[in-house]
Amino acid sequence: MSDAEPPTQDTPPPSRAGVGETFDAIVARRWSRRAFVRDSLLAGLTIYLPSVHKSGIADAGSRMAFGHVASTQGDVMAVADGHRLSVLLRWGDPLFSDAPPFDPWRQSAGAQARQFGYNCDFVGYFPLPRPSETPDHGLLVVNHEYTNPELMFPGYRDGAPTAEQVAIQQECVGLSIVEVVRGKGGDWRIVLDSPLNRRISATTSCQISGPAVGHTLFRTAADPVGRTVRGTLANCSAGRTPWGTVLSAEENFQDVFGNRDKLLPASEDLVNHMRVGVPAGPSRFGWERHDPRFDVEQNPREPYRFGWVVEVDPYDPTWVPRKRTALGRMRREAANSVVSKGGQVALYSGDDTAFEYVYKFVTRGRYDRINRIGNRDLLDYGTLFVARFNADGSGAWLPLVFGQGPLTRLNGFTSQAEVCINTLRAADLVGATKMDRPEDIEIALDGTVFIALTKNAQRGAPGFARPDAANPRSLNKHGHIIELHEDGGDHAGRSFRWSLFIVCGEPGDPSTYFAGFPANGGISRISCPDNLAFDHAGNLWIATDGQPDAFGINDGLFGVPVDGPERGRVRRFFSSVAGSEVTGHSFTPNDGTLFLSIQHPGEGSSMAAPSSVFPDGVSPPRPSVVAIEHVLGLPIGSAPPPAPAVGG
Ligand code: FEO
Ligand code: CA
Ligand code: CA
Ligand code: CA
Repeated sequence: MSDAEPPTQDTPPPSRAGVGETFDAIVARRWSRRAFVRDSLLAGLTIYLPSVHKSGIADAGSRMAFGHVASTQGDVMAVADGHRLSVLLRWGDPLFSDAPPFDPWRQSAGAQARQFGYNCDFVGYFPLPRPSETPDHGLLVVNHEYTNPELMFPGYRDGAPTAEQVAIQQECVGLSIVEVVRGKGGDWRIVLDSPLNRRISATTSCQISGPAVGHTLFRTAADPVGRTVRGTLANCSAGRTPWGTVLSAEENFQDVFGNRDKLLPASEDLVNHMRVGVPAGPSRFGWERHDPRFDVEQNPREPYRFGWVVEVDPYDPTWVPRKRTALGRMRREAANSVVSKGGQVALYSGDDTAFEYVYKFVTRGRYDRINRIGNRDLLDYGTLFVARFNADGSGAWLPLVFGQGPLTRLNGFTSQAEVCINTLRAADLVGATKMDRPEDIEIALDGTVFIALTKNAQRGAPGFARPDAANPRSLNKHGHIIELHEDGGDHAGRSFRWSLFIVCGEPGDPSTYFAGFPANGGISRISCPDNLAFDHAGNLWIATDGQPDAFGINDGLFGVPVDGPERGRVRRFFSSVAGSEVTGHSFTPNDGTLFLSIQHPGEGSSMAAPSSVFPDGVSPPRPSVVAIEHVLGLPIGSAPPPAPAVGG
């Protein structure tokens, strides 16, 4: 989601309230890294800034031979020397031959349901055939997070969409699954009418599974048994399972619901919807004006049906998407998985709202490498945990289990289903650490877990939680990245060690930290880390969301080794166009192609006067997936070809 600060809530939810933090002395002074270390020591706290990384990722940094590109402003894009970029999929591109070509002046919901959606976010490359490591033929699974109606519809009236505009938007969100192939010339193209091409939208039937299936809070007039949801939306980022399905995360679902203030004061629904930020009055997108499903007064249970991880099998169009309630309900950025030593699957997620939490789910059963179908129900049984980051560099995974600790009838919980539905309230009660907007969480080749905290301008502000060891900056404008090591290397375990990997900002600013790499060593300034991904050599790539506000420059994509002598040396690889954020970066198995989403180009402007005309040079701008390759066919991030000798 674009990164204006999150929508204002009428009252801070409980997790935002500043209780019991102990860093007054630190915050009172102008914070600097040196001062922070000193103050932390004085306060008896350990700030965890390791200088040397562990493990054995051979030559992880050697790929990172590109020269950083300069930042851009305005409608200007730049990619590292030696790399070329092509546009693969744009909003409105037909995925089927029965869909009309894109025409912003003649849109319809029926057409959009057969075309590529809006505001592409997560991109996942799934090789064909399965299983294989094919680098030039596969499926792209793309999330479509939300809409910018002001850039989509000629003459759009903010707050007063037409019924047709609402119906089109409902078909714009969700997911696209598209077969793609790389031709001999090196250009990627889509396979029109592939039987694997699909659109999943806010109107596609999804099944509910796990502990909350059938719960009374799920029951609506349209679904009196609480087992089937119409649609998925707010699909921000995602992850993949070891068995090759996608876990698409529904993030800011509250933006399409309105009229919470019409609910009875102090009613259960009102309290629950407040906690997840459903607005009191009209919604951001005004869908409730034409679709009663999104009017909380008429359908007070509908918001419970969103905020989930949705599992989709890109290889099987007949398999109905599943909303996995065991993983909890939140405004979730993504869900990334790893198989633990014992064979259980661990999934890491963050709720990207200020002062929300980091979560882990561990399956009860073990991953079956042989029998893919045998993993179908794995995500319905297991334990959900939320993280507490201690000031001494240790940490604990606190179970969110009905009947344990405070999660009892005394505090309004009568079943695990309610813990899963009202996960944020459960996490408040167990004493989890309030974080600076947890975005993507990715697992390195050696098992280290990297957590992007995008920023939090409210940290330390009056009435809000103060800085703490894991969120050390007041009014955190630039965000930071934490690395987490599970104790004993066990992803199914309950304790960990953590440290700061990068504290973002302008190198040389004493409040920044780049894993110990010298500030004058050629580091690019970076702000607001959001999506993360590793290439197959183990290098971390960071996409940003918020640099226009932080630095007055466009958002971009950055590469950084997490090991070796260049560990912490962040370099800008790509700078995007005006108003856009970079999301969904994903590598083919040979690292030969990097797919990227250019999300919301031109955001903040209008269709009549757009700040961006990406990608076609005309209005409206179109969110697009691009493919980046090295001109010599080398892995992404390799050095540019030598400059030709100048002839005499
Ligand atoms: Fe949709 Fe957390 O970004
Ligand atoms: Ca973001
Ligand atoms: Ca994001
Ligand atoms: Ca990711």
